[in-house]
Amino acid sequence: MKKTLFALLFISSAVHAVPFAKGHADNGKKLFTQYDCSSCHEGKVGGDGSAIFTRPNHKVRSADDLIPQIKFCSGMVGANLTAQEEQDLAAHLNQRYYKFK
Ligand code: HEC
Repeated sequence: MKKTLFALLFISSAVHAVPFAKGHADNGKKLFTQYDCSSCHEGKVGGDGSAIFTRPNHKVRSADDLIPQIKFCSGMVGANLTAQEEQDLAAHLNQRYYKFK
């Protein structure tokens, strides 16, 4: 049982070795501005809105949470992000704030 657990842990960490490796963080940064991603976040947490990612009880807890959250947020404003744009945004947010490995 223990062995299986270790094997599973190993596999899942290998899969997530580099989250959003196909995302381009530079482009994600531009998209973040282009889609005005901070607009609602500013209202919620104040400042430039970036505290939404770093607040102690932030929602996104793992790399796997990030894309669904980006889909949810972009859906609310009717932004039709491509899969690549989602990856780019995720790469940017991960590099800058979340730092999931
Ligand atoms: C229509 C308003 C709105 C827009 C526009 C918006 N968001 Fe959000 N976003 C929210 C709200 C509200 C939350 C907080 C949800 C909560 O606390 O339950 C949030 C939370 C998030 C989080 C999670 C923060 C955490 O707690 O870890 C991420 C990531 C995120 N947004 C990304 C984006 C991106 C990327 C865009 C631009 C494509 C965007 N959002 C645009 C409303 C918005």
